[in-house]
Amino acid sequence: MAGWDRISLLLSLETNLLVMEDPKCETSRSYLHFGNVSFKYPNGKEVLHKVSFDLERGKTYAFVGPTGGGKTTTASLIARLYDATRGAILLDGKDIRSYKPEERTRKIGFILQEPFLFSGTVRDNILYGNMEYKNFSNIQLSEAISEAGLESLLARFDQGLDTKVQTTGDGISLGQKQLIAFMRAVLRKPELLILDEATANIDTVTEQLLDSILKKLPVSTTRVIIAHRLNTIENADEIFFVNTGKVIPAGSFNDAINLLLHGKVES
Ligand SMILES: Nc1ncnc2c1ncn2[C@@H]1O[C@H](COP(=O)(O)OP(=O)(O)O)[C@@H](O)[C@H]1O
Ligand SMILES: [Mg+2]
Repeated sequence: MAGWDRISLLLSLETNLLVMEDPKCETSRSYLHFGNVSFKYPNGKEVLHKVSFDLERGKTYAFVGPTGGGKTTTASLIARLYDATRGAILLDGKDIRSYKPEERTRKIGFILQEPFLFSGTVRDNILYGNMEYKNFSNIQLSEAISEAGLESLLARFDQGLDTKVQTTGDGISLGQKQLIAFMRAVLRKPELLILDEATANIDTVTEQLLDSILKKLPVSTTRVIIAHRLNTIENADEIFFVNTGKVIPAGSFNDAINLLLHGKVES
């Protein structure tokens, strides 16, 4: 009975992320637009304060800044894991709240800082939520994997696609979990791919592999990379500093370094 109480409580929960009509109070030609976005977590302090920026289709962006600065929060808002407290986020010209969840998740791939996997095999985990591939035979899946250039990553697992994944315990490393999340996101060919410190637990050789796989994505793919290692963000088209409630565009890698050296941006 105690268990049932808890289950029925869970079943009665409703998401507060409802799909709503586009209020059309703002317009934008950018692929992604933040217009005066403020955000605070329930019971938390304000993390973003009147943030505005634009991301263009096909470009690579890097978000840098100190731990706790708000990078993951900004990325979570892009993927609508939360709704902004104030302001509007437009995806492809439409309010992000007006997309059905399946439309939105088809457009946006998010590799979380702490990847979420469930018990099963590597195959189960990389096909999770992938409508297009879920009925693929093993041969079709292998072809899709080699087309995306992912075989070399799959080779990091003893039993390949059949490698068992456990949500708890020490079956596979955190780095391997990130590789699974990476394969899952890349196979879906999202229009916008967000990598939140996705290589923090991955060795440099594998990281270069990931880089070469990212280069194989369609040129129209927009990339948002959150990273600490400088080499990962060197080739970004634009770097944003994320700190103390602000998201500040800092130009290319060289521009950003200059800004930092001349102390114009707190880091
Ligand atoms: N789920 C949460 N609930 C409440 N506060 C949070 C939550 N996640 C992050 N924060 C707070 O929001 C701020 C920004 O965190 P985060 O976006 O994770 O920063 P970063 O990714 O740059 O390290 C921090 O002060 C953090 O403590
Ligand atoms: Mg973070």
